[in-house]
Amino acid sequence: MTATSVALIGANGHGMYHRRQLAELAEAGVAVRLVGLADTREVQEAPAGVPVYTDHRALLDEVKPQVVIVCTPPHTHLALTRDALRAGADVLLEKPPVLDRAEHEALTAAEAETGRVVQVGFQALASPALVRLRAAVVGGALGAVRHISVLGCWKRDDAYWARSPWSGRRTVDGRPSLDGALANPFAHAVMQALSVLDAPVERVEVDWLRVRPIEVEDTATLRITLAGGVTVLVAVTLAGEGFVDGDLTVYGERGDAELGFREDLLRLPGEAAAVQVTGRRTLLENLLAHRSDGEPLLAPLSRTAPFTAVLERLRAAPPPYQVAEEALDVADGHRTLRGVNTVLARCAARGALMNELSRPWSATVPGGTANG
Ligand SMILES: NC(=O)c1ccc[n+]([C@@H]2O[C@H](COP(=O)([O-])OP(=O)(O)OC[C@H]3O[C@@H](n4cnc5c(N)ncnc54)[C@H](O)[C@@H]3O)[C@@H](O)[C@H]2O)c1
Repeated sequence: MTATSVALIGANGHGMYHRRQLAELAEAGVAVRLVGLADTREVQEAPAGVPVYTDHRALLDEVKPQVVIVCTPPHTHLALTRDALRAGADVLLEKPPVLDRAEHEALTAAEAETGRVVQVGFQALASPALVRLRAAVVGGALGAVRHISVLGCWKRDDAYWARSPWSGRRTVDGRPSLDGALANPFAHAVMQALSVLDAPVERVEVDWLRVRPIEVEDTATLRITLAGGVTVLVAVTLAGEGFVDGDLTVYGERGDAELGFREDLLRLPGEAAAVQVTGRRTLLENLLAHRSDGEPLLAPLSRTAPFTAVLERLRAAPPPYQVAEEALDVADGHRTLRGVNTVLARCAARGALMNELSRPWSATVPGGTANG
C-alpha cells in the first residue's frame, strides 16, 4: 500500500507532538509518511531528509501532500486551511478551528468547493467513553438530561503566559486570537460538554476574571443554554489550588453520569465506579481511515459549529476583570486564587456563574475591572 503523504504547517510548539505521532504511527506499520514542514520561524530539530519551507504555499505547490496538519496560532487557521484544501489535501486542523461563525461558514464552503474534509483537533471527540455516554443518553439510561457540567482546576505559571507571541492575547495583528482558558486549554472540555447532546446554542453567559495582567481570562464560569433548555456550565481555572482534570458530569432525571476524557473513564447511573472504555484511535488515524475506507470522521468541522458559536459570543463579552493581589498566593511564578476550587465546584453543581454565588475575592484592581 502506498503511504499517505502528510505535511505539517506550524512545525514547532505543539507541532512537535504531531511529528512524534507521525513517527510512531509509521513505526507501528501505518502507511503514512511526513513529506514536508512549513514554519515562518526556524524549525527546531527538523528531521533529516524532510524538506522545510518558510512559506506554506511553496510547500503545497512543490510537495503536494495528501493530508496537511495545520498547527499554527488560531488567527491564521482559516487562510492556511483554505489554501491546503484548495491544494487538494484533507486537513487535520488544530483547535480552536476558527474564531467566528463567518469563518466557520467560509471553511465549510471551501470543503464543499474542493470535495476535501477538515477534521478538527478536538481529541476529546475521539473518546470511546463519549460515544458510550451519548448512546446511554439516547437510549434513555439517564432519563431526560437536565444539566451538564465541567469542573477543571489547573495551574499555569508566568512561563506559560510568555510561551508564544499570541499567549494571553485577545487580538494579534488586529485579528481575534482568544488565548483564554475557555478557548484554549479547556476548549476540549467545552467541546466535549457540547457534544453530549450536539444541540444548537441559544444563550451564552460568562463571568470571568484574571489573576495577572493578561488580556484574557484565566478563570471563568460559562453557562450555555442549548435549544430545548438544557444548560451546560463550564467552571475552570488556570490559577487553581489543587488539580481537577476537567471531568464532565451529566445530570439526568434518572441519575448522573461522569466522564473522565483523558483516560476514557465512564460511570453511568447505577454503576458504583467508573470503568475504562477502550478502543481510542487518534484523530489522524481516523482521518486516514476516512480517506481509505470511508470511516466517519470523529471530529468533522460541522460538529464544531456550536463551539464556534460560543467563541463568537465570548469575543463580544466585556474583558475579564483583574483580581487584586490580596486575594492571591504568589510563589515560584504561580498565582493561586484562594478559594477558587470550592467556588467553581459549587458553580458546576448548581449551574451558577461565579457572580451569582458568594466568593472570597471581592477586591479587584482599579481600572482592571470590566464586569466585576
Ligand atoms: N490539541 C491539543 O491538545 C493542543 C495542544 C496545544 C496547542 N494546540 C493548538 O495548536 C495550535 C498551535 O499552538 P502552539 O502552542 O503550537 O503555538 P506556537 O506559537 O508554540 O507554535 C505555532 C508555530 O506556528 C508557526 N506559524 C505561525 N504562523 C505561521 C504561518 N502563517 N505559516 C507557518 N507557520 C506559522 C509559528 O512560527 C510557530 O512555530 C493552536 O491552535 C493551539 O490551540 C492544541
